[in-house]
Amino acid sequence: MTDAHSSVEDLRPDFDAVLHRRRAVRAFRTDPVPEDLLTEVLDDAAQAPSWSNTRPYMLAIATGERAERIRAAYAAEFDRSAAAQRGDKAAMAKLALTGSMPDGDYKVWAPYPADLRMRSVRLGKALYTHIGIPRGDKAARDAYNRRNGEAFGAPVIGFVLVHSGIMPFAAMDAGLMLQTLFLSATAHGLATCPIGMLAAWRRPIDAEFEVPEEYKLITGFALGYEADEPINAFRAEHDPIGLVPPREG
Ligand SMILES: Cc1cc2nc3c(=O)[nH]c(=O)nc-3n(C[C@H](O)[C@H](O)[C@H](O)COP(=O)(O)O)c2cc1C
Repeated sequence: MTDAHSSVEDLRPDFDAVLHRRRAVRAFRTDPVPEDLLTEVLDDAAQAPSWSNTRPYMLAIATGERAERIRAAYAAEFDRSAAAQRGDKAAMAKLALTGSMPDGDYKVWAPYPADLRMRSVRLGKALYTHIGIPRGDKAARDAYNRRNGEAFGAPVIGFVLVHSGIMPFAAMDAGLMLQTLFLSATAHGLATCPIGMLAAWRRPIDAEFEVPEEYKLITGFALGYEADEPINAFRAEHDPIGLVPPREG
């Protein structure tokens, strides 16, 4: 801690600024992120707490040509499976027959529990309304969703892998680390977006990285410089944390 930050009161404005500047950014400029800047952000992320200090996760970081190959591979996976995602049974059968089913370690597209689904629907509606995609316009939705596969054009595409031998704690620790990484990136003038959709497929990352057997892909993320695009003016609502009611008496 520096002298300028000798009291809790002094820390608060800086924390607020970084916390509230971070948000999911969904359009990036193509400018590369300097390697030393990326290293600083990863070093900051290493400061995150973890279960028994085991740090039960790894990152795979793609930049440059590797990121472009990964982007193309994910876009191709998305195109192959878009109709099946929408529930088209014939398209699903074709995916299965051609061995192109999503091969992610976890079921990214599993239905949400009813009590959480409404939140996700509310986000989807707000986002589609913000970018002007009308309800029922499947082609426009597909075109937008495909951008997830392309990591929204970000120059850095990251993947978070969790140790399967210490779940669910590994998933929790990975989340703590990822938010630390995001806040550090924000403080360094960078923008980020977690992209769970990238975890629907393993093939594109396995083609580019030697992932140890026990590590499973839990999410991807985009990192780079925010583009001046209307989608980046979107703000998600942040409801208060749900509090479990205490028992009476
Ligand atoms: C693990 C994880 C996966 C996510 N996956 C996606 C994704 O695939 N696509 C997307 O646009 N946003 C994704 N998000 C971003 C959330 O929608 C976003 O964090 C939430 O709506 C709150 O908005 P904010 O981050 O802008 O504050 C993901 C967030 C997390 C934590």
